[in-house]
Amino acid sequence: MTEQSPALDNLLTESRTFPPSEAFSAQANATADFYAEADADRDAFWAKQAERLHWDTKWSQVLDWTNAPVAKWFVGGKLNVAYNCVDRHVVDGHGDQVAIHWVGEPGDNRDITYAQLKDEVSRAANAFESLGLTAGDRVAIQMPMVPEAIFAMLACARIGVLHSVVFGGFSPTALRSRVDDQAARIVITTDGQYRRGKAAPMKANVDEALEGAESVEKVIVVRRTGDEVPITEGRDLWWHELVDGQSAEHAPQAFDSEHPLFILYTSGTTGKPKGILHTSGGYLTQAAYTHHNVFDHKAGEDVYWCTADIGWITGHTYIVYGPLANRTTQVVYEGTPNTPHEGRHWEIVQQHKVSIYYTAPTLIRTFMKWGNEIPEKYDLSSLRVLGSVGEPINPEAWIWYRENVGADSAPIVDTWWQTETGGIMISPLPGVTATKPGSAQKALPGISAKVVDDQGVEVGKGGGGYLVLDKPWPGMLRGIWGDEERFRDTYWSRFRDQGYYFAGDGAKYDADGDIWLLGRVDDVMNVSGHRISTTEVESALVSHPTVAEAAVVGATDPTTGQGIVAFVILRGNAVDGGEAAVQELRNHVAKEIGPIAKPRQILVVQELPKTRSGKIMRRLLRDVAENRQVGDVTTLADSSVMDLISSGLNSGK
Ligand code: PRX
Repeated sequence: MTEQSPALDNLLTESRTFPPSEAFSAQANATADFYAEADADRDAFWAKQAERLHWDTKWSQVLDWTNAPVAKWFVGGKLNVAYNCVDRHVVDGHGDQVAIHWVGEPGDNRDITYAQLKDEVSRAANAFESLGLTAGDRVAIQMPMVPEAIFAMLACARIGVLHSVVFGGFSPTALRSRVDDQAARIVITTDGQYRRGKAAPMKANVDEALEGAESVEKVIVVRRTGDEVPITEGRDLWWHELVDGQSAEHAPQAFDSEHPLFILYTSGTTGKPKGILHTSGGYLTQAAYTHHNVFDHKAGEDVYWCTADIGWITGHTYIVYGPLANRTTQVVYEGTPNTPHEGRHWEIVQQHKVSIYYTAPTLIRTFMKWGNEIPEKYDLSSLRVLGSVGEPINPEAWIWYRENVGADSAPIVDTWWQTETGGIMISPLPGVTATKPGSAQKALPGISAKVVDDQGVEVGKGGGGYLVLDKPWPGMLRGIWGDEERFRDTYWSRFRDQGYYFAGDGAKYDADGDIWLLGRVDDVMNVSGHRISTTEVESALVSHPTVAEAAVVGATDPTTGQGIVAFVILRGNAVDGGEAAVQELRNHVAKEIGPIAKPRQILVVQELPKTRSGKIMRRLLRDVAENRQVGDVTTLADSSVMDLISSGLNSGK
């Protein structure tokens, strides 16, 4: 295991608990007996959860694990995911309920009812079919948080086409590699996007990415900013011209429970992102079950807001699929939290009477920095459940969130999960669990997680090790697109004998047996809740002509969780390694991957610490990056290297 940072040590001395109020428990969706019920018969428990969906054909078997690690859930069942998220609520008489209170960054608004959502999704589905798309095809989506992004995802789901959403902040190079990997036939984007009060181009990014991309037949462009964009005749189509004239009637076809739903790329420990594959019935079951119980969501009463971007798994499961399957009324906000002012989120909460708010620790810490007086100015009394996701939440931020946002009473659910797990896995249940600041606590009913040592043996109370998932779950990934071997290697080989899924996270049990997540144990960094691999950033750096070698580490950062710190050796003496060269390298990484991967700091060094077998010892570089005493150097091939690095840095070189 990697050693812990001071922030984590701090986290482990936390011992406060916050039991739910009797009033909350009395009305909660989840009850304590769920755990025993699920333990007694997991299949029966999950079958009951799947009943929350509409199945055209019922399954004949809950789980088929004979072809492990590729699971089949609700075998033989057939359903249409989009019908479940949209049409059936209209059929049930809720067509007039608002599905989405969309809030644009510049202040424009759009309320979309379930009936309108059904029409929009049907039109888009008809439009996609008119372009010849059929079940199994792939569509890449790079868009800001506009309603059409959600329409597009649901329209794909409706016709059995896999969507692959690429975060808007990813560079053309990153978009292109994802488009090529899945051989996407269509790419959907917008002309531009609003970011911090300004219109920024989006289509230009896509045009650059798609130069010579062979699989792409059409690019569909949604008009958002109104800025002029170049149109490639024969390839590009305006969304409004293609979709608006289509019929609002579209008959949904039922697909097999295991029909692929989407691919979402995420960073692994190599330079190449992994296309995580999710399928239909099990994924939607877990999305709906967790959204209902972890957020205590009441359809028709609550107003829910998940602040994620649809470019990440949180946006997929907890903006699109889980909430819409549960007939949620939700806020979708296009912009940044401080545009035009730092109270923007609280203003939206007040205006729409948001009752459930789900965000990331990095944003909570940013709110803390901006000051208590900002949320104090707004009426936040509608809030009754608060969620956190993406990285370990430090107790200070947890307590701040509870006191300043949750009026010292709203339960906080710290939800641990991953792109690969599809939905929440470890979390308190509001109304059931006495919460602990900084701990995700317990696997949800129906889910099983363990902390094990190197040998795969479960550690005792108070012990630390690796987090594993020891039983299959409905929302689990079904593979890595086009790379079965990597799927087996990455997740299933570390504890092959036991058949455990290796999550890549370190974890610990406290004296009560509750789980505390301690961050990644592999070469994946977590920057503002975004996964970025050290290797990916290193590859970007060495692709610059001035760089001979690079090593990247994630250093503890008070706001972003981790910050990217790069150590580079420059080629020859041609470049001086001064401020301009460093700035050029930071920009180069932003261009190669995207601004989220821009190193916080780049240190030019003469040597890198390596073992005798040539492996870079990132642990030592992390010590330097975090201004700590450098640890044990005895395994270094040349133990003087660290002195050289430290003295070079101290002298400002
Ligand atoms: O390290 C864990 C961290 O985020 C990783 C998953 O990242 P991603 O696939 O991008 O999904 C993020 C949103 C689900 C995990 O391996 N992580 C996520 N949630 C938590 C967390 N670490 C600690 N506590 C959490 N609540």
